[in-house]
Amino acid sequence: MLLIQVGEDPASSYYVQSIINTADKLGCKAELLSLPADSSQQELLATIKTANSDPGVHGIMIQKPLPKSFDDTEINLSVNPDKDLDALHPLNLGKIMMETDGFLPCTPAAVYFTMKYYGIDPVGKNLVILGRSNVVGKPLANMLLWKKMNATVTVCHSRTTDLADICRKADILISAIGIANFVKADMVKENVILIDVGINELVAADGSSSYVGDIDYNACYDKALAITPVPGGIGRITTSLLYLNLVSAAMLAAGINKSVDEYIGIIFSENHKKL
Ligand SMILES: NC(=O)c1ccc[n+]([C@@H]2O[C@H](COP(=O)([O-])OP(=O)(O)OC[C@H]3O[C@@H](n4cnc5c(N)ncnc54)[C@H](OP(=O)(O)O)[C@@H]3O)[C@@H](O)[C@H]2O)c1
Repeated sequence: MLLIQVGEDPASSYYVQSIINTADKLGCKAELLSLPADSSQQELLATIKTANSDPGVHGIMIQKPLPKSFDDTEINLSVNPDKDLDALHPLNLGKIMMETDGFLPCTPAAVYFTMKYYGIDPVGKNLVILGRSNVVGKPLANMLLWKKMNATVTVCHSRTTDLADICRKADILISAIGIANFVKADMVKENVILIDVGINELVAADGSSSYVGDIDYNACYDKALAITPVPGGIGRITTSLLYLNLVSAAMLAAGINKSVDEYIGIIFSENHKKL
């Protein structure tokens, strides 16, 4: 796998290094290609073009956000869709809409995986997603609308009115807005299932930092039937699913095409063997 980073943002570098370390442990080869912060769009496109046709590279991941001078859409379009570990190429996003097998973006896939793993069936439930970004909210809403999930989905965003009211009606509430502890106990009903995608940094007076989700975990815990923690919840599964995408890209290069559900089936059966 080739990780491409533009610039040296410390948080990004930490994340990229943790991806490389985990890849080492898993026996995958992950290489980092660092471009200087003042690189041009053309230089990044040329780097991607080389990786696209290199048979030794099964997967490409471009660390986001890119510096503001870059055109994200052109970069997403330039990645070989068969190596697109972030599933940001419109072909892969289109496949999600069409309910056709292909790569899934890691964070929505982490929510899907969690729901499958814990047997959270959204049929007949009121499912609400907070956030409509291209990386989380929109692809997730499409995945949950799949005929193999059959959720009835409400997607909220910054212009939604009566948001607290909508949240209170949710049987399953998934938050991906990026505001620390935004969802309070009085915004959820008893026995709600809460899935927290948000990762928000809180900096204390002494300069130390900690991370919390969008959902006020402690306040909502008693009301919830189930709740995912931050850190250690969806974020951790998201990272794991990057390697699942890498495995599926390598299999694809070898002419073997399996759906995410087939891979999930394999993972579940391996886990069940261990239990
Ligand atoms: N767990 C993981 O692995 C993972 C991966 C990716 C992201 N994240 C985290 O998930 C969160 C969202 O990430 P993102 O990339 O999707 O963020 P984003 O691109 O900034 O999108 C945020 C979304 O939240 C909506 N929003 C903002 N304020 C709101 C409010 N007050 N009420 C209702 N909706 C509001 C925005 O609405 P508009 O569209 O109207 O602006 C937008 O749709 C962040 O905390 C990020 O760190 C976690």
